[in-house]
Formats: sequence, structure tokens, C-alpha cells
Amino acid sequence: MKRIAFHDRERETDEIMNVLDSEPSLITFIYGPINSGKTTMVSHLIKELPEDYVPFYVNLRGRFITGCEDFLNVLFEIDEGGGVGNVTEYAKSILKDLGVVSGIPIPMNLFERIFEKKDKSKDMFKYIEQFFVEISQKRTPILIIDELQVIGDLKVNDFLIYKLFNFFIRLTKEMHLAHVFAVTSDSLFLERVYNEAMLEGRCRYLMVDDFDYETTAAFLGKYGFTDDEKRVAWDYFGGKPVHLLELIRSDEKDKAAKKMLTTKVSQLKDLLDYLNYTKPRITIGEDTYMVEKEDVVSVLKRFIGDECIDCEGLNRPAKHFLIRDNILFLDPDRGVIKPQSRIHLLAIREVIANA
Ligand SMILES: Nc1ncnc2c1ncn2[C@@H]1O[C@H](COP(=O)(O)OP(=O)(O)OP(=O)(O)O)[C@@H](O)[C@H]1O
Ligand SMILES: [Mg+2]
Repeated sequence: MKRIAFHDRERETDEIMNVLDSEPSLITFIYGPINSGKTTMVSHLIKELPEDYVPFYVNLRGRFITGCEDFLNVLFEIDEGGGVGNVTEYAKSILKDLGVVSGIPIPMNLFERIFEKKDKSKDMFKYIEQFFVEISQKRTPILIIDELQVIGDLKVNDFLIYKLFNFFIRLTKEMHLAHVFAVTSDSLFLERVYNEAMLEGRCRYLMVDDFDYETTAAFLGKYGFTDDEKRVAWDYFGGKPVHLLELIRSDEKDKAAKKMLTTKVSQLKDLLDYLNYTKPRITIGEDTYMVEKEDVVSVLKRFIGDECIDCEGLNRPAKHFLIRDNILFLDPDRGVIKPQSRIHLLAIREVIANA
């Protein structure tokens, strides 16, 4: 089996290192289309970080979180070792040999103490803050939450996400205590974040997109692609790492690419056919709307001539539906929408041309 080494991401890594070089002051949202390589980039960066930093990486993907208890279990990494009296003592004791951890370390007895509390979120934030205060005497803590949208709708009295945002603001802008990164490929969640008044001026956005042409060609060059094969790859897949990987692993590049397009086309046809029978419901704010097939087709038609369009004037339920179904990607920071990948764009063009 071919082992694929991590490739490039120099520009994005430099941007993150610039953020890390200065005092924590803003929350950084890392976003981008699906499968663009956000998690891979962050995981790689964590391994390469200088000793002065301590990353705490929490990935919410696939975690079933229905309440504060579940969130606590994901956020913390319980240390079964002997109980300690308080956070400061514990943080001091583990600082010496703290490697890469997933979750914030906490001794069992302190975890149980939080777990028993009525307002768990208050105590959880208090613990993390005190833990970071102690850690920051020697190294700079970095809190990274991947797939943050998983708790986007979770209510613990009030929405947990708002409490979390407030806490992030406290860690960054107010206390300059820890760097905070939130990663997501859910554009509808990101759009909410982008329009959230409480985050105005308190966060920045960093896009991790598919590779550009030069990066793609260099990547494929490492695996012996000829110029023709590189062209096929770019024409069908642009710089989507996960698709390029498929081609690297396949012996007949041209055939594999065509097959993947056929699959995408038939999925899209099926989706449009499905809309002949039903009108999916989309909630926008407090109201629910029905999605009409003709509106979906109108939005898709815009991609016949353009790879990327601006958001203005699009039918909102149709737009949300296509974004929710991961056909389109919305970049609220630039105010544009584009297909999730090159293969999506090709499929849209083929299906709409024959519709
Ligand atoms: N820089 C890279 N070098 C080599 N392979 C990469 C790179 N980035 C991504 N990949 C490959 O692409 C796959 C998808 O990447 P990854 O899961 O990081 O994307 P993502 O943006 O986090 O996806 P999602 O939108 O699902 O969160 C990975 O399994 C990895 O093998
Ligand atoms: Mg990811």
C-alpha cells in the first residue's frame, strides 16, 4: 500500500504560526470545503509545534453529544492517577511530561466534583481557566476544537455554544491566556457564527481550501504522475486531497476519474428526481420553508458559466438545502458560494445541461 506523506500547507501554517507568535486576542475559525484537509493540517501542525506551546486538541466528530455530561466526557481526558487537592497542584505536577493530549487532563476526583454540580458548565470553564493559568506560567496553551458545529444546537438551559463562545472570548481577548481555534466544514454553522453579534470583532477566519494548481502538480509529481495524468487529475478533481489520493492509489487514472464523475452525476440526478416527489423542509430563523425543485435548479444553473458565485439574490431555502446536502460550500467571509469540489461542479454542469 502506498503511504501518502503530508504535503505543503505552508501558507496556512505560516498564518497560524503568526497567530501563535502574538498574544492570544482573537478566536480563530478554521474553515473550508469538506475534505479540504483541515484536520490533517491541524494534526500535522500540532506534531511540529515548538516546545513553548501545549496543544489540547478535541475532535467532536462522530461524538454523540446530547447534554453537558457528554460534552464533559469528550472535552476532558480523565487522569486515573491519584487524586489531588486542587487544579493548580495538578497542573504543576503534569506540566513536566505533558505530551500531545486529546482533551484537557483532569484528575478523576476533580472531574467527579464538576460532574456532580448542577451548573456543570460554570465549573468546567472555571477548571479549564485555572488549569491554563498554571500551564501558561511555563508554556502557551492552545485549545483546538474540531467539528465544533456538533454542539451547535445543544441546549443546556441556554445554548451551550454561546457559553462556550463567551468562554473563548475570556481566554483570548480578555485574559490573553490561551489561543483558541475552532475548526468546521459546516458552512451553515459558519454563517451563523459569522453573523453572531457576540463574536463581532472577536474572531478571525482562516480558510483551508483545496490545493491550488501548483501544489496539486507538486503533490502528484511525488507519486510519479505524468503531465497528462496531472492534467486529468486537475480537470476532474481540482486540488481536493481526498480525491487526489484516490487517483494516486489507482492504476488507471483516466478510468478512475471518469467513474467517479459518473457516480457523482447519478447521485445528483437522483437528488433532483427525489425533489419531483417531495419538498424538503428547511428552517431559517424561526420559520420553516419548503424547498422547490425549480429553485434548486435555478441555483445550480448559475454554475454553468461560473465556478464561484456571490450569495446575493439566491433563493434562500434552495441555497440552504444545497449547502446542507454538501453540494455547495458557502464562504461567508468572502460572501461567495461554490461547489464543494471540482467533481461536484462537473456533475452540476452535466446534469443541468441535460435537465
Ligand atoms: N496536506 C495533505 N497532505 C496529504 N494528504 C492530505 C493532506 N490534507 C488532506 N489529506 C488527505 O485528505 C483526507 C481528507 O483530509 P481531512 O480529513 O483532513 O479533511 P477535512 O477538511 O478535515 O475534512 P472534513 O471536512 O470532513 O472535516 C485525509 O484523509 C488525508 O489523507
Ligand atoms: Mg476534519
